[in-house]
Amino acid sequence: MLTPTPADKFSFGLWTVGWRGRDPFGDATRPELDAVEAVHQLAAIGAYGMTFHDDDLIPFDASAAERQRRIDRLRQALADTGLVVPMVTTNLFTHPVFKDGGFTSNDRTVRRFALRKVLRNVELAAELGARTFVLWGGREGSEYDSAKDVRAALDRYRESLDLLTEFVRDRGYDLRFALEPKPNEPRGDILLPTVGHALAFIGTLAHPDLVGVNPEVGHEQMAGLNVTHGIAQALWHGKLFHIDLNGQRGIKFDQDLVFGHGDLLNAFSLVDLLESGGPDGGPAYDGPRHFDFKPSRTEDIEGVWAAAAANMRTYLLLKERARAFRADPEVQQALSASGVDDLRRPTLEHGEGYEQLLADPDLAAFDADKAGERGYGFVRLHQLAVEHLLGAR
Ligand code: GCO
Ligand code: MN
Ligand code: MN
Repeated sequence: MLTPTPADKFSFGLWTVGWRGRDPFGDATRPELDAVEAVHQLAAIGAYGMTFHDDDLIPFDASAAERQRRIDRLRQALADTGLVVPMVTTNLFTHPVFKDGGFTSNDRTVRRFALRKVLRNVELAAELGARTFVLWGGREGSEYDSAKDVRAALDRYRESLDLLTEFVRDRGYDLRFALEPKPNEPRGDILLPTVGHALAFIGTLAHPDLVGVNPEVGHEQMAGLNVTHGIAQALWHGKLFHIDLNGQRGIKFDQDLVFGHGDLLNAFSLVDLLESGGPDGGPAYDGPRHFDFKPSRTEDIEGVWAAAAANMRTYLLLKERARAFRADPEVQQALSASGVDDLRRPTLEHGEGYEQLLADPDLAAFDADKAGERGYGFVRLHQLAVEHLLGAR
């Protein structure tokens, strides 16, 4: 039960286990990790998928022959292990050409170059059988309010998404796009900073059905937001196309810790939602459980694989704890005493309108002071969650 298998759909970015520990203040602390080695190791620890940015696999300036050689090696490793590539994404942030963004750079030639880079990578994603294409616009933003016309930038963002969805439709690819929000870092302010901003933007696109979100736990938390609420709203809109799981402790730089190594209670409620928030208490989401973490630069390569395994084990532990929480009769009683079930009941009677509501004699006689005395028992309910999380029940 706590041993990950491909049925758990755990996936990792090549850039996560492959992160060499370079940060703004220090050099790399680990050697390069070969993509083929990463595929074999991930399969060995029970993952089902590996994702990558184009540049993780193929150097930015690689020749056509070198590009093909790298792709062929990856394909062979996938065939040898049974690992899949459920998602692919494009690097529009490392090369200096993207210092003011890709799709929304103030330089039109850069915007056109970025579009070409993504289109070519979408082709590769489709060839490898990926079903999701993530767009994280880390450089789409600004440091200075006067430097970016945000409305024009959103026009260009939309223009890019509309071209990409047209491409996928014309080619007949079974591929959808997922926007990944982040409030800041590397830019001072990033466009589409939260799940809510991204959802509102998607509603303006030519083919909104082909575009959803890829929320990252830590990114919402960097903005001081409750990621479980953000994910719940994405689910409510039918837009949770993919998810990046990791850990973050409060409002600071993007820590990309192991899942659960940040706000553990929020991680518990998130797993509870994903695994038991669907109809009849089943899963609310059936896509990859994708870890986008950075093994701390204090770790050697053994520590990298231990950290990768820790993500999956923590997820499975939380899943098991969430199940026990839901199955506990005292929790069920506490949930209903707290009115959690009652919220699922429509506020109006079937066929009732404002006329009937206004004329309801029970409402005219409603004792608001008495109703205001009610205790909701939320603290008791939450304590039960804490006790299950701690293994005390
Ligand atoms: C981050 C981001 C990135 C993106 C990735 C996908 O840590 O700020 O999460 O890791 O997920 O680049 O495009
Ligand atoms: Mn991150
Ligand atoms: Mn991410």
